[in-house]
Amino acid sequence: MTDVADRAPRSSPSGEPAISAWGLTRAFPSGLALDALDLEVYPGEVLALLGPNGAGKTTTVRLLNGVLAPDAGSSRVLGLDPATEGHELRHRTGVLTENAGLDDRLTARENLETTARIRGFDRRTARQRTDELLERFALTERADIAVQGASTGQRKRLALIRALLHEPEVLFLDEPTSGLDPAATRDVIALIGALASEHGRTIVLCTHFLGEAGRLADRVAVLHRGRLQVAGRPAEIAAQMWTGLPVEVDLGGPAPEAVVEAARSAAGVRTADATPAGIHVEVGGRDHLPDVVSALVGAGAAVFAVTPRPPTLEDIYFEIEARIAAEEGRPVGATS
Ligand SMILES: Nc1ncnc2c1ncn2[C@@H]1O[C@H](COP(=O)(O)OP(=O)(O)OP(=O)(O)O)[C@@H](O)[C@H]1O
Ligand SMILES: [Mg+2]
Repeated sequence: MTDVADRAPRSSPSGEPAISAWGLTRAFPSGLALDALDLEVYPGEVLALLGPNGAGKTTTVRLLNGVLAPDAGSSRVLGLDPATEGHELRHRTGVLTENAGLDDRLTARENLETTARIRGFDRRTARQRTDELLERFALTERADIAVQGASTGQRKRLALIRALLHEPEVLFLDEPTSGLDPAATRDVIALIGALASEHGRTIVLCTHFLGEAGRLADRVAVLHRGRLQVAGRPAEIAAQMWTGLPVEVDLGGPAPEAVVEAARSAAGVRTADATPAGIHVEVGGRDHLPDVVSALVGAGAAVFAVTPRPPTLEDIYFEIEARIAAEEGRPVGATS
């Protein structure tokens, strides 16, 4: 699992945002799907949109791409208002939807060339773009077989190509790896990583896979029942949520109570608890680790390893869910 500290920013938030939303709101008969979303995504950034089923991720993508109108609030994508300039906007954005939306009766090549022609490319350029992308996505051998025989992974790659034919500046990817096997997932993640580093392309990635989000995203936004819970760089979010640094200490077995007590009384230690392998401590910062080690050694413990464990994106996500559940007085994971 990628920890949140080792992801170097791809770009610094500067200049005009590629995407901005102010109070963006959309209701369906079942209730509010998106409740006053304020969000900014900067050019060249990958933003991961996270949240449980029904949180409003797909609704956000549809609003920002102008295929759904807001009930309140507004947004700008590449300087355009999706609600009124959606047609123009969609020439500059690409979308991979939850359902790939390919025509099963056509071959991969026919699907792609048709889309390229609709996008306004002449026949020759349409064929050229299609061939280039089929090759890049390792689908050349599948190009002339009807899509109905394609696997889930091949469909996803085809759908990704289709979203890329017109070289969009902003790419919305709604669950690009759902249903893929581990190898196909790894390939698609690598492709998205490569796409993100091209031409300052901005990517909004909706996903349930926190490892994927941790690897690809510069910033994350967590939605829950239409409300934005938190947005920012994972390391910054973690720093706001937890002031201490969790550390695993390997003592070759559970720490006896006297050793736990010794750790607890060391400078900078906030909590200390025995674990099957030794002891888990939370310290104010890395600087306190030597004190922890000398306290443990002083109490007669053999210290085999001391491993700071900064919170992962998974830790952040589940902590947010747990805090919401606690506020609502229900068990974690039960959403209604
Ligand atoms: N076209 C629609 N008609 C009615 N209700 C809708 C429609 N689209 C979304 N909703 C509702 O809006 C809420 C948010 O849905 P949305 O699809 O945005 O969630 P999501 O975060 O993408 O979830 P998932 O992880 O399951 O894809 C849900 O309660 C959903 O039932
Ligand atoms: Mg969705």
